Amino acid sequence: MSRSAPDLAEVLSGQPAPIRQICCIGAGYVGGPTMAVIADHCPAIQVTVVDLNEARIAAWNDPDLSRLPVYEPGLDAVVGRCRGRNLHFTTAVEAAIASADMVFLSVNTPTKTRGIGAGQASDLRWIEASARQVAACAQGHTIVVEKSTLPVRTAETVKAILTAAQGAGGQTTFAVLSNPEFLAEGTAINDLEHPDRVLIGGEDPEAIDALAAIYGHWVPAERILRTNLWSSELSKLTANAFLAQRISSINAIGALCEATGADVREVARAIGSDSRIGSKFLAAGPGFGGSCFQKDILNLVYLCGHYGLQEVANYWQQVVELNSWQQHRIANLVVRSLFGTVTGKRLAVLGFAFKGDTNDTRESPAIRICLDLIEEGAHLAIYDPKVSSAQIAADLGQAEADQGQDQPQPGQGEGRWQLARSAGEAARGADAVLILTEWREFRQLDWAALAPSMRQPAWLFDGRAIADTAAARSAGLNVWTVGEG
Ligand code: NAD
Ligand code: UGA
Repeated sequence: MSRSAPDLAEVLSGQPAPIRQICCIGAGYVGGPTMAVIADHCPAIQVTVVDLNEARIAAWNDPDLSRLPVYEPGLDAVVGRCRGRNLHFTTAVEAAIASADMVFLSVNTPTKTRGIGAGQASDLRWIEASARQVAACAQGHTIVVEKSTLPVRTAETVKAILTAAQGAGGQTTFAVLSNPEFLAEGTAINDLEHPDRVLIGGEDPEAIDALAAIYGHWVPAERILRTNLWSSELSKLTANAFLAQRISSINAIGALCEATGADVREVARAIGSDSRIGSKFLAAGPGFGGSCFQKDILNLVYLCGHYGLQEVANYWQQVVELNSWQQHRIANLVVRSLFGTVTGKRLAVLGFAFKGDTNDTRESPAIRICLDLIEEGAHLAIYDPKVSSAQIAADLGQAEADQGQDQPQPGQGEGRWQLARSAGEAARGADAVLILTEWREFRQLDWAALAPSMRQPAWLFDGRAIADTAAARSAGLNVWTVGEG
């Protein structure tokens, strides 16, 4: 039975029975950390995270907390406190749904790669499959919460699937809520602990109250916003579009800074001091990566086109175009600076994750930049503190080259890549170092030690503007910093 019978105190209080069992479908970057934080703050609720991916569930259950499938600062401590107490990871999807009062849908919603809307629209097959699983397995009254980022009006589809399963005698009933997640990777635990806002969209006040009560364990009431379903779904896409638009805007101005002698950091500080503009999300770089910005804007573009708003679609499309341009632009200027050719040259790539403090490489700017350089025949030595060789091979669509082949052979051969175990190893014998992810250790590189091991004349291309460029220059390196004229 899903919702357990209310006890006497609850009946007398007139309040709806509180949630006691949560199931979350999808043990990914959102489902795992979000449920861990809910379990941590709500010890009276049993939280079960389910996934079809057995390896992922096994990793969530790994006794060694350093091997959780998602790397997030602070996550290991939260999982360590709750796992086995009121936080469970399992592939037993049906049983977890059957005993849940509330089911979160936190499955992947990537961009469609074929068929109608390919390249823009969200692929909703996983959300539909999980809604069907809930329809088939739920018992009693179940609140279904959209946690995935979804096109506006997806709740209609979810409701249609659930309604078809609703028992004629009312034994199985559902309420559908939208509760998009705003955490950023690398700061997920802090974002979940101290959210700027929690957004709950829905039509059923009891269901909204039940979800608000869960967040109410640690989120101040004034930060829990209630809207209708469609506003909630659209707010998530809009938030990501606005954030990504700021990055494309500052990267566009960064290119102009490079051309004119201005410095994008000074410009960012000057404009960011205007409280109407604000200082956050104005760091120029190699363009935004991550699993969501591009996919969510493309989704917005598709929706605008669907509703006949072509000019609006074109406006948002340009944010994505500028982002790709920035990545190709950086690869091009590396080639041009190195005398117009990188064929056979060793280039040290520092950072492969799409941002610091995560092992996630989805849509990482490093992928496009590395592919461009490999296409030009470069020999890349890639170092990232958290990304594996297997992941890089998958992202570049090319296996790692033999470690024996690491001597520069100017003018011949195909481009290739190898993994380096440290920044120093990557830089040894390289013509250039490219910083593509803002890992803390790259801020503290000892250029006086690194530069002599490189082939001269050598370059530093600081795509994140984090290196001690004065030290790099005095160690004899040529330096390019993104956005610096
Ligand atoms: P993910 O790919 O890391 O995880 C999704 C998981 O769902 C996978 O492990 C997959 O095996 C599982 N899954 C899919 N269908 C299933 C089914 N029918 N039954 C059981 N398991 C199933 O994705 P993610 O990064 O966690 O993102 C999930 C959603 O949250 C997406 O819509 C994304 O846009 C959104 N989101 C992501 C972030 C982020 O930082 N990654 C932040 C906010 C919102
Ligand atoms: C982003 C949003 O910040 C989250 O609110 C949202 O929940 C999430 O997407 C999502 O829906 O998936 P995330 O992609 O994890 O979070 O990380 P961000 O910190 O937003 O960074 C995204 C990309 O922009 C990274 O490649 C980062 O390096 C880049 N960035 C960020 C910049 O180039 N400059 C900046 O000033 C900020």
